[in-house]
Amino acid sequence: MRQQSQEAAAFIQEKVEVEPTVGLILGSGLGVLADEIENPVMIQYKEIPHFPESTVSGHKGQLVIGKLEGRQVIAMQGRFHYYEGYDMKQVTFPVRVMKELGVETLFVTNAAGGVNESFEAGNLMVITDHINNMGDNPLMGVNDEELGPRFPDMSEAYDRALIHHAEQSAERLSLNIQKGVYVGNTGPAYETAAEVRMIRTLGGDAVGMSTVPEVIVANHMGIRVLGISCISNMAAGILDQPLTHDEVIETTGKVREDFLGFVKDLLKTLPA
Ligand code: 6GU
Repeated sequence: MRQQSQEAAAFIQEKVEVEPTVGLILGSGLGVLADEIENPVMIQYKEIPHFPESTVSGHKGQLVIGKLEGRQVIAMQGRFHYYEGYDMKQVTFPVRVMKELGVETLFVTNAAGGVNESFEAGNLMVITDHINNMGDNPLMGVNDEELGPRFPDMSEAYDRALIHHAEQSAERLSLNIQKGVYVGNTGPAYETAAEVRMIRTLGGDAVGMSTVPEVIVANHMGIRVLGISCISNMAAGILDQPLTHDEVIETTGKVREDFLGFVKDLLKTLPA
């Protein structure tokens, strides 16, 4: 496992001069951020040793490495989802590789359904915490003590200082952001209206099909995490309309400018 992530990291290091300290995982419709990276080196997932291959439409499958707002970054344009049939170790493998490359801070983004009835499609939500509702955990099995502890603390899974940083950035940009708890479900079916009521009762504000595994693995290795959800639609039973993946892509397109401006400002003002 460690050896595989080291081999993948060595392969990447041969192709780039920069040493990225910030990782970006870009969710559905949000991959455009990687197009703004200066002097980008693009590496297709399928070229990288031990990397799984991406399958969903609307997701590219490549790493983009370079400079953004003066920071050395490594972006995933498209991620691996559990619902695609990858196991949790495959889903989180790129985070292991990022750690080997020197990443200390991870921005995790996703498109999510709004569960909190005060939310609207098109809102950005800073993730304050999550609920792992996937029935699996990427840390199952033998633990590599060199990477992290057997029983990692998850009491500040989303770094408090980074949440504060994001609030200040939003204020500077006059962005009306939400904050809340992200619930990770496996998908690929969207939730029923009853499941959405359950999620709300459990304390969830938004629901999606990603993020939780990557955040667990980042915490395992001591990487600080900032999570941002793009509320692409309201979850079932809130508005009287069916959910479609097209709507998810359409809304992420509409908030693209806010999202890009937000993440760029966060990078620009991130303490070294
Ligand atoms: Cl409503 N549910 C889930 N699980 N993922 C989503 C979503 C809803 N909307 C966008 N992604």
